[in-house]
Amino acid sequence: MTEPGLDRTPSFIDARRSVRSFDTAPVSRGTIDMLISAACTAPAPHHSRPWRFVIIDSAEGKESLAVGMAARWRQDLEADGIDDSRIVELVSASHQKLISAPTLILGCLTWDGLDRYPDEARMRAEWGMALLSLGAAVENLMLAASAVGLASCWIAAPIFCPEEARDALGLAVDWLPHALVTVGNQDPKYSAPPRREIDLSTLRVHR
Ligand SMILES: Cc1cc2nc3c(=O)[nH]c(=O)nc-3n(C[C@H](O)[C@H](O)[C@H](O)COP(=O)(O)O)c2cc1C
Repeated sequence: MTEPGLDRTPSFIDARRSVRSFDTAPVSRGTIDMLISAACTAPAPHHSRPWRFVIIDSAEGKESLAVGMAARWRQDLEADGIDDSRIVELVSASHQKLISAPTLILGCLTWDGLDRYPDEARMRAEWGMALLSLGAAVENLMLAASAVGLASCWIAAPIFCPEEARDALGLAVDWLPHALVTVGNQDPKYSAPPRREIDLSTLRVHR
């Protein structure tokens, strides 16, 4: 039996949706700093903060990141044997998405505060823990954005090309980009599709 009122997802969690279209209003750097502070309250292994965040709100910065990541994506798509016209379509849609968002926040991982091991298996597990914590930080950031009426969307691209994303922005060599979040005010014409139903019978078991 569930206690009354405890059978529904809390509304602040439910309210966050991935929004893929923004109006042109800028987001203040103070607000972005608040979002990053919220991200940094996420749980992390060994009380570490292995995350670094890059705020990209200039046209030049967005262009550099979009172009740097696109070069690698184009290579991957060519290697997959995708038609050139389709590649152009995909790459330009992605480019447009990045340059049209008011602010991009790039979440990077470093080894700062993480343990190191002599064997590869534990090094991989340690990096995996750090990645999980970056995911928690990004979710915090997006929940905080939603709580103050801002829209956001997680963009996967940098996890496929961390070095290219890093070098496009001239970041330190040990900052490895893994998650990109677009932030802005929601385009009033955009509405998120209905959430897929959550069927717990296929997603959880009891033991
Ligand atoms: C790791 C990760 C990568 C994602 N990458 C993209 C992406 O590249 N482009 C995009 O439009 N949405 C991306 N999303 C957003 C998901 O598509 C979205 O969360 C999902 O469809 C559920 O919708 P909701 O966030 O509105 O509940 C990503 C989400 C995660 C967690």
